Amino acid sequence: MRKTSLDTLPAEGGLGNEPLLAVDNLHVEFATRAGLVRAVNGVSYSLNPGETVAVLGESGSGKSVTAQAIMGILDMPPARIPQGEVRFRGTDLLKLSEEARTQVRGQRIAMIFQDALSALNPVFTVGWQISEMFRVHRGMSKRDGMKKAVELMDKVRIPAAKQRINDYPHQFSGGMRQRIMIAMSIALDPEVLIADEPTTALDVTVQAQIMELLAELQRESNMGMILITHDLGVVADVADKIAVMYGGRIVENASVHDIYKSPAHPYTKGLLESIPRVDLKGQELYAIKGLPPNLLDMPTGCAFHPRCPYRQDNCVTDVPPLHEISGTRNSACHYWREVLDGDQR
Ligand SMILES: Nc1ncnc2c1ncn2[C@@H]1O[C@H](COP(=O)(O)OP(=O)(O)OP(=O)(O)O)[C@@H](O)[C@H]1O
Ligand SMILES: [Mg+2]
Repeated sequence: MRKTSLDTLPAEGGLGNEPLLAVDNLHVEFATRAGLVRAVNGVSYSLNPGETVAVLGESGSGKSVTAQAIMGILDMPPARIPQGEVRFRGTDLLKLSEEARTQVRGQRIAMIFQDALSALNPVFTVGWQISEMFRVHRGMSKRDGMKKAVELMDKVRIPAAKQRINDYPHQFSGGMRQRIMIAMSIALDPEVLIADEPTTALDVTVQAQIMELLAELQRESNMGMILITHDLGVVADVADKIAVMYGGRIVENASVHDIYKSPAHPYTKGLLESIPRVDLKGQELYAIKGLPPNLLDMPTGCAFHPRCPYRQDNCVTDVPPLHEISGTRNSACHYWREVLDGDQR
């Protein structure tokens, strides 16, 4: 594989028609004892500065694996990327040398991990862990690094940051620890932030606060954000675009507005209908029936057909292409017109 040097990576601006980040026809597979797991099958989405793309889908749909491929942190093997590109400012990161990749990772593209609460090291103070970003990547002294750590803790609204800098992770609540993780992820002013289920482990009020914080930090810095979640309710207020994943594929992508107005894929429709609504209190909560597909034994045709209320015979045999509905909207459903015209809630 040809290796590109970091010198070819534009510093800033000059994006032209190229998005800030473009995942293009990405495939990721894992060689396992049980067989080949095709976790990501031709996923494409793109992100511009200041924009938030929510990547949505049930457990196992390939959201995190896609993010790990963007970050370049997949263990290869067992993982393999047989096809696809991850372009950052027009440069395919998959072709970069490991050394160049290290310069991008954490500095220009940062990630808040799904298991953020366990990602903090219990034996070091939070100040030490935040300041490490500046010591390691910016060559700062301990003292200057600590000063920056306090600034960042203030920025993510940890009360009495200066007094708490020498506390250990276990002395903070779950929400506060998540704020510390966010502080570490934005320490080096990344241009892209990937937040993988940043609020899943938190209660609803804290979830809303963390979302608000992320949106605010993003507005200040104009970074692009990829927000991974299985909860459509969480992203409504913060996302611009939504990419819905099912069985390692994008089944619908569109603006948040379009998706809320009328989904064009039965799976998206099911996800929307499973959001709890205060105005429908007392009604039974809808759940999509059936289970996510087994990647080792994918259904024929459309992977969603065993669970789909719109299913026709050809859904069992023909894989639906990603139909272009408008310039900014796609659906991988043979019957997207019917879904789109369906009864609105
Ligand atoms: N190292 C690995 N080896 C084998 N299979 C893997 C590996 N990592 C991930 N997978 C498989 O890839 C699929 C996609 O996983 P991924 O973590 O991307 O799901 P996800 O959409 O993030 O789900 P969740 O909402 O549960 O986080 C899963 O079926 C998972 O079991
Ligand atoms: Mg995940």
